[in-house]
Amino acid sequence: MTETTNPDIVVTSALPYANGPIHIGHLVEYIQTDIYVRYLKLAGKNAVYCCAGDTHGTPIEVNARKEGVSPEELVARFLQEHQDDFAKYNIEFDSYYTTNSEENRKLSEGVFDALVKAGLVYEKEIEQLYSEKDERFLPDRFVKGTCPKCEAPDQYGDVCEKCGATYKPTDLIDPYSVISKDKPVLKKTQHFFFKLSDYSDWLRDWLTTNKRLQPEVRNQMLGWIEKGLEDWCISRDGPYFGFKIPGTEKYFYVWLDAPIGYISSLSNLLDKNLEKTKQVWADADVQHFIGKDITYFHLLFWPATLHGAGWKVPDNLVVHGFLTVDGEKMSKSRGTFLTAAEFADKIADTEFLRFYYAANLGHAMTDVDLNINDFTERVNKELVGNVANLVYRTLSFINKNYDSKLSGKAADDKAKALEEQVKEKEKNILAHYENYEFRKAVQELLHLADLGNQYFQAAEPWKNKETSQAVLTTCANLVKDLSILLSPIVPGFCEKVQQQLNLGEQTFADLGFTLENHELGTPEILWRPIEPLEFDAPEKESADLSPAILDLRVVKITNVELHPKADKLYILTLDDGSGEERTIVSSLVPYYKAEELQDKNIILVHNLEPAKLRGVLSQGMLLCAEKDDQCELLVVPDAQPGDHVVIEGFERGEKEISIDDFFKLNLTVRENKVYCEDARVLVNDTQVTSTQIANGKVD
Ligand code: 2FM
Ligand code: ZN
Repeated sequence: MTETTNPDIVVTSALPYANGPIHIGHLVEYIQTDIYVRYLKLAGKNAVYCCAGDTHGTPIEVNARKEGVSPEELVARFLQEHQDDFAKYNIEFDSYYTTNSEENRKLSEGVFDALVKAGLVYEKEIEQLYSEKDERFLPDRFVKGTCPKCEAPDQYGDVCEKCGATYKPTDLIDPYSVISKDKPVLKKTQHFFFKLSDYSDWLRDWLTTNKRLQPEVRNQMLGWIEKGLEDWCISRDGPYFGFKIPGTEKYFYVWLDAPIGYISSLSNLLDKNLEKTKQVWADADVQHFIGKDITYFHLLFWPATLHGAGWKVPDNLVVHGFLTVDGEKMSKSRGTFLTAAEFADKIADTEFLRFYYAANLGHAMTDVDLNINDFTERVNKELVGNVANLVYRTLSFINKNYDSKLSGKAADDKAKALEEQVKEKEKNILAHYENYEFRKAVQELLHLADLGNQYFQAAEPWKNKETSQAVLTTCANLVKDLSILLSPIVPGFCEKVQQQLNLGEQTFADLGFTLENHELGTPEILWRPIEPLEFDAPEKESADLSPAILDLRVVKITNVELHPKADKLYILTLDDGSGEERTIVSSLVPYYKAEELQDKNIILVHNLEPAKLRGVLSQGMLLCAEKDDQCELLVVPDAQPGDHVVIEGFERGEKEISIDDFFKLNLTVRENKVYCEDARVLVNDTQVTSTQIANGKVD
């Protein structure tokens, strides 16, 4: 925005996490919001579209550490990448900011302070899962284990993807750290809580009196309130990437400062003046577009914290469903999990996706399906065959036969009837946009193009070129109106059509059959039929992740010491046959006494990248069989230090590998025999075996 007049309408999309790419699922929301804001602007409203990178939280800290960069660097890279992706799809923000800004820090501290002063925050000691190996508390998504309800293995700490049960990470059976597979322990920690439970009545009232909310969303929220709201933990322990809570060692939980990012993004448009921003926020119509997965945060936590801190609450929230592709969840293995950039490379014009999403979006919180055949068919039939066809046949006819000049418009009954119908439809289309019913708007828009094509066809101008200039002038007016009305959905196409019409920037105020005796620009074909989209499923197993990445060797434990800083860790000295000593840190204390380990020949992942565990460098990892609470070290008494452990049929890995890659391999013990995937694990031609654990995982 060039001038800084205060906006009357502030529209936002959810702030994408700045640690992964934008994919076609995200695009549903950004395209939906962008269409709505473009509609508002064309209607002459002073609206702004604000967004930002959501930059805080554990995953960002962990990913940055893994990549060996600072979180700031990681976030900066994704902020740029996201904006490049959005630009590819003509998604235009007035402000794209970051939650890691000074304004966001001040605003977050201000909200927290106000909540404290209002008596809405208290401190409480709780127990959380802590990994000694990772030296951190493990948030929900960093712990996996067996579902306490249905016993499905490998479920996250908050919800079971198999049975849908929700629970606390501490309820998991056999929890393990997603980072290191370490078995976490319970540890006490002091945290700040927001008294959400005090807000049930207020929220119920707000949800019922706000008539703009979608009924299904309101009902879902009311249902949750009836079940009882729990107070909300708004702080986190380090290591964390976020804002420190002043005067403490804790950080604000990312979900506290993320939505405040909407406000700081607005401040970015208002000279970063926070006083003024608060006033504009209070006066404007504030609307958030979000996905159905984050309703709890936006319709319970967010209004309650805003209200508690003395801020105006949002005026409206528009919640959309998820994207499915051919009726199923996007999936990497089916090749349907595509990033925005990958999809852009597959299609001739990214506006085809804008059109397709619009054609499938209503105001209801239903999922949007990207059906690949339907996509091709609708683009070819509706956009190319109907809309673009009307545009090109009209403009090229005028160019060839009337030297690109319009006359007066046709005045016969047919032309008048057409103009009346168009006026009627225009009203409906604008109302559909206003009501977030883009699917209905598209239906009416296509009908308009149909009417134009029928009118052209029925007039048969090619039979009487000399007398048909008025008919074509009427058609050109329809093309103009269509280009204005379609512009929120396919703005790039419409701008080019308007250039071909030799018109400046158009708005809804320019609707109407007003073009007469005007000279047009040069016609050009803008869209051509497309071939069906193809999705390539990736190769089943990428070369990198075959067992051939592993270098396993026999080592002898020559010394065992307790780790001075951790109860469960030993520091083991190893002889790997090379003549030099190696050290590893291993969490075997609960399972073996030091003397039981001394002089044992065991198997080491020799090419694992070294990692510091509680301050001690660990150069590899030993292999154990595991089942439930048991852990058995795999021993190879008949082998010699330095012997290679072979995975039958595979070469040995030469490069260093990460712990993540190691965990992607499926090492198991089945009937006491050790396998990697389905290949036998051998030392000197004999399969490695376990004695106690007959069946389980190996890591
Ligand atoms: O779910 C997400 O992707 C979050 N990054 C959305 C945050 S929206 C707002 F609260 F910041
Ligand atoms: Zn379950």
